[in-house]
Amino acid sequence: LKGILEAHRDMGLDLPPISNHHLDSLQAKTQDTGASRGGLDDVASLEELRSFMGECRRCKLHEGRSHLVFGEGSPRSEMVFVGEGPGRDEDIVGRPFVGEAGRLLTRIIRAMGLSREDVYICNVVKCRPPKNRDPEKDEIEACIPFLKRQLAIIRPGIICALGRIAGQSLLGENFKITEKCGKWHSYMGIPVMPTYHPAYLLRNPSAKRQVWEDVQKIMRRLGLEVKRNG
Ligand code: URA
Repeated sequence: LKGILEAHRDMGLDLPPISNHHLDSLQAKTQDTGASRGGLDDVASLEELRSFMGECRRCKLHEGRSHLVFGEGSPRSEMVFVGEGPGRDEDIVGRPFVGEAGRLLTRIIRAMGLSREDVYICNVVKCRPPKNRDPEKDEIEACIPFLKRQLAIIRPGIICALGRIAGQSLLGENFKITEKCGKWHSYMGIPVMPTYHPAYLLRNPSAKRQVWEDVQKIMRRLGLEVKRNG
């Protein structure tokens, strides 16, 4: 746009002055997922998808973030964990699930006989909601096309939806974690196992038993050996 305006000026066209601030806000307004132009659907790798997102300003969460937390792990993984959104620690370092809840998730992954590098870990929204509030509908709507593309690129055997927000975002607004955890669902044709979020487990350790049962179901489906005492 800047180039076009400059070219018009060079041609002697008399245009009102336009500041960088105006250009920035115009760019933010016109930034979309690109899906309508076929752009997002053409993105074939996670690296390309990250570049496609760029310095994303498609929703208001960009205003308070330090880092966009894209996701990490194996692009060929059979297993994707989907959380809600980055918290304070994740926002600082730009990686998913690195705080206290993240350390618990790492222990769960190890209990499956896997490492973080064997799986893929990402979130519904890629930028931290202020004061760790729940992401809002418009924020989820702006970000979910990128989660969908991540899943389409990885095409895992199983998705584990961590907590209510991930469950609702993938399985519909009526999703209730207490009713649906431990049961198989489907998203984009991929089996989904919803279970409690590790942050919930930190506050309610008694729910760990349920999560371990859900994780065992995932392990059986992945053909991983389930040891009797976890
Ligand atoms: N909680 C989440 O849902 N995601 C993270 O990355 C960290 C905490």
